[in-house]
Amino acid sequence: MADDLSSFAKDALLVKGLKSSTLVWRLIVLTLAMVSGVYICSICLKQIGTSSKIGFLDIKVVQKPCPEPNIEPWEIPFVHYPHPKTYSRAECACHPVRYFAILSMQRSGSGWFETFLNSHANISSNGEIFSVKGLMQHHEEIAEYFRIHGVSLIFLFRRNLLRRMVSVLANEYDRNAKLLNGTHKSHVHSPKEAEILAKYKPTINSTLLIAQLKQVNETTTKALEYFKSTRHIILYYEDIVKNRTKLRDVQDFLKVPQMDLKSRQVKIHKGSLSSQVENWNDISKALTGTPYESFIHEDYRR
Ligand SMILES: *[C@@H]1O[C@H](CO)[C@@H](O)[C@H](O)[C@H]1NC(C)=O
Ligand SMILES: *[C@@H]1O[C@H](CO)[C@@H](O)[C@H](O)[C@H]1NC(C)=O
Ligand SMILES: *[C@@H]1O[C@H](CO)[C@@H](O)[C@H](O)[C@H]1NC(C)=O
Ligand SMILES: *[C@@H]1O[C@H](CO)[C@@H](O)[C@H](O)[C@H]1NC(C)=O
Ligand SMILES: *[C@@H]1O[C@H](CO)[C@@H](O)[C@H](O)[C@H]1NC(C)=O
Repeated sequence: MADDLSSFAKDALLVKGLKSSTLVWRLIVLTLAMVSGVYICSICLKQIGTSSKIGFLDIKVVQKPCPEPNIEPWEIPFVHYPHPKTYSRAECACHPVRYFAILSMQRSGSGWFETFLNSHANISSNGEIFSVKGLMQHHEEIAEYFRIHGVSLIFLFRRNLLRRMVSVLANEYDRNAKLLNGTHKSHVHSPKEAEILAKYKPTINSTLLIAQLKQVNETTTKALEYFKSTRHIILYYEDIVKNRTKLRDVQDFLKVPQMDLKSRQVKIHKGSLSSQVENWNDISKALTGTPYESFIHEDYRR
């Protein structure tokens, strides 16, 4: 249990859209292959998909001889014309591309959110996740990288950090237990699978709880501070769960045409939180009268 809990706080911040999980951070900067792009046509989408292995630095960004796109002057740094060295993008060469990255905590709905984005004809988010220990240490370099390469940032956070913790612990447990016919799954597509995974109720260490919630809150606050000058949008998982119209704000932010976005993923933990934690009484007692008390009362459906 102690291990589970420490991994909850550790490595909690993820950047999605940046590729390569095995390299150390400085190399990641160099191979920041595919900061997920937004493209004009599906052919171009495929082209860029295959080019992602080539690596960001091999893609020359050319401003000319394409005609000026019909955009506001402030947008110019965010519009790119990828120009891979190894092949010609042919008819796509003049279709501008925009880059974005998703910055989120583990188990905050980023996988779910990404399935919505990828249901859009003009968006490709490559799903590669890596936890970035160095993200906070090297935030200046990263923010600078985002600035130079015109990358926009989507912050996706979860308000109820206690629900998030249940999700983290259950996911950690399933990594070994493999409840679905011997296969570990972090996301599911059927209510039956969700029900099986939700049967496991974690025991939360109530002594460490407050400190851990505080740490996650502080990390989030710091991340917002570090990247405040990067063009960004802040989203909360709960808001999207309650109101899918929020996805319109994202499409505006990414400058893509409005579409109805869809996800086939099914939420694993539904209903009251009290039924999802083994030692609910301890947890409820530990949080009552603290700034986190609201976490034990909030309920919602997806
Ligand atoms: C979006 O993608 C569709 C299908 O590939 C394409 O026809 C359309 O031109 C694209 N629109 C924009 C604005 O990128
Ligand atoms: C597990 O396998 C059985 C038999 O192959 C199948 O009927 C069942 O649907 C599977 N369950 C899950 C949750 O995948
Ligand atoms: C909670 O964590 C503390 C510190 O790691 C440990 O001393 C304690 O035994 C844990 N309590 C339970 C019930 O696991
Ligand atoms: C951190 O917690 C405080 C107090 O509960 C809250 O007002 C604030 O919004 C939280 N910060 C974040 C980034 O969630
Ligand atoms: C849903 O989200 C949209 C877009 O952010 C907002 O304009 C609208 O007021 C929200 N509706 C509700 C019921 O919160």
